[in-house]
Amino acid sequence: MNCKLISREKSLQLPSAVKHACHAMLYAPSDEKLFSHIPVKYAVLMQMRFDGQLGFPGGFVDLSDRTLEEGLKRELSEELDYTLDFAESDHMYCHIWEEPIHLVTHFYTKRLTLAELRAVEAAAVQGKEFGLETMGLVRVPLFFLHDGKGGLPSFLCNNFIGNARSQLVDALKSLGIVKEEQLKSALKSSSR
Ligand code: APR
Ligand code: MG
Ligand code: MG
Repeated sequence: MNCKLISREKSLQLPSAVKHACHAMLYAPSDEKLFSHIPVKYAVLMQMRFDGQLGFPGGFVDLSDRTLEEGLKRELSEELDYTLDFAESDHMYCHIWEEPIHLVTHFYTKRLTLAELRAVEAAAVQGKEFGLETMGLVRVPLFFLHDGKGGLPSFLCNNFIGNARSQLVDALKSLGIVKEEQLKSALKSSSR
């Protein structure tokens, strides 16, 4: 993947020709159980994009946005028809890309309640971009089925835009949503 980590501060000092895009992983603790016995633990949202790849809601920041967080709020309201505020403290990290365009991708995580996350899901299907830019929100299966493949390992075999797959894995790890050992084994079985 042709991208490098860059600090938020440095990224904001880059020439104005460099574009910025912000995307967010929305998640909520959940006490739901699959088949009444497999704990789901968390609901984590990604979306099927117009290009057939999985990614996170968000998009390009434009000149009308005063801050990165305002740009993210606007993109989410366009894509999901739901208004959420973001703070600098929700910014997890960012990467600079040189190909195909000079772009910085900023990645945010935001914890919601399950009721709020369900409201986001319900709004998204009513939004004007549903079936267009956004083909639907998906919850990430975080569990591991007995065959060693079903659940998170299979999910990680999908196609992801940019570095969305590593953004997902890094966020699951740093937020303590999935244990490091389990993530390692999911990554290993998804690469087979
Ligand atoms: N990691 C890295 N790059 C990403 C990620 C990610 N997780 N998600 C998206 N990108 C890249 C995309 O490839 C794109 O180049 O960031 C850029 C902007 O993200 P999008 O969500 O696709 O942008 P958005 O503003 O929502 O809308 C897409 O692009 O081609 C235009 O006119 C089209 O309006 C549309 C817009
Ligand atoms: Mg958009
Ligand atoms: Mg987008």
